[in-house]
Amino acid sequence: MAQSVKEQVLSSLIATTDFLSGEQLKNELGVSRTSIWKSINKLKEEGYQIESITNRGYRLIEKPGQLVESLLTHDLRQRGFEEVVVLDTVDSTNLEAKRRALSVKGKGLYISKEQTQGKGRRGRTWQSPKGSGLYMSLLLRPNIEPAVASMVTLLAGLAVCNSIKDLFGIETLIKWPNDLVVNKKKLCGILTEMNTEVDFVNYIVVGIGMNLFQTEFPEEVALMATSLIESSNGTLNSLKIDQHQLIIRIIDYLLAYLLQLEKNQNISFIRDEYEQKCVNIKGDLKLESNSVVTTCVGKGISDQGHLMVMDAEGVLREVSSGEVSVRGIYGYV
Ligand code: BTN
Repeated sequence: MAQSVKEQVLSSLIATTDFLSGEQLKNELGVSRTSIWKSINKLKEEGYQIESITNRGYRLIEKPGQLVESLLTHDLRQRGFEEVVVLDTVDSTNLEAKRRALSVKGKGLYISKEQTQGKGRRGRTWQSPKGSGLYMSLLLRPNIEPAVASMVTLLAGLAVCNSIKDLFGIETLIKWPNDLVVNKKKLCGILTEMNTEVDFVNYIVVGIGMNLFQTEFPEEVALMATSLIESSNGTLNSLKIDQHQLIIRIIDYLLAYLLQLEKNQNISFIRDEYEQKCVNIKGDLKLESNSVVTTCVGKGISDQGHLMVMDAEGVLREVSSGEVSVRGIYGYV
């Protein structure tokens, strides 16, 4: 997709630590001085600190740390993304990604500062008020078989887990298949949806919802939910959470995992790491399927991403995430 003048000006500014004169930019990009000037002003409005000195030109001093579409677009085009959209409000970023999938043939990222109909797994809702969390959906088109598509959800969970550890030093655990938990409370949920034909995956939408800034939760979820700030034991505040970096890190992990998944068509390459982080494989748990609850013992994860459990009769079973919902013996985890 063609780059706008603003995107091209931004790329040129990011590529050098020197001043770039209006004349240089005009010749490099083949556009008028006025459109360069307008682009610089738009970038400044978006939070870029750009020094302008007469006879020397423009120099980028600092990029904005929060959700800025132009910067995400710049960074994600280098990773082969076709479209990046940051919205103020939307019904659901997963719905938006699916709408866009009709015209976007490659990868896309859809983020919104709030969602009015945020969707959770199993028909639940995901509360998504403005200024509280990260709500993003990735439109991906991996070359995998339909039976493999549900494994992407486990990869996404691990990608988020590792990104949080790298950037903020916070250890999160995974409640299979892909809830992230800290101190037995949910920090992040992932909703993966797909569009497939019998033998072909058209696209996968990976929706990630992470609580970032809440220090209090509504009573009905207070015992179950936590936020990144709350999980940090006072080391993080809203200024220290760079959402841009977090998003890029998650995507980098996930794209790397997807390459492996395409090659292997199973998750054997992350199985050990996933098992180490998974809270459901070392003890008693309850499986719920069609309102019937059974108690089992978690035993591990299979190469297909299924949960392996020992049932009350001592029989080893493999269950898929579409089939059952998992609860610990004591509460949410
Ligand atoms: C769950 O734990 O039930 C999954 C929650 C997934 C929420 C995210 S927020 C971004 C994306 N858009 C949605 O409507 N849902 C996912």
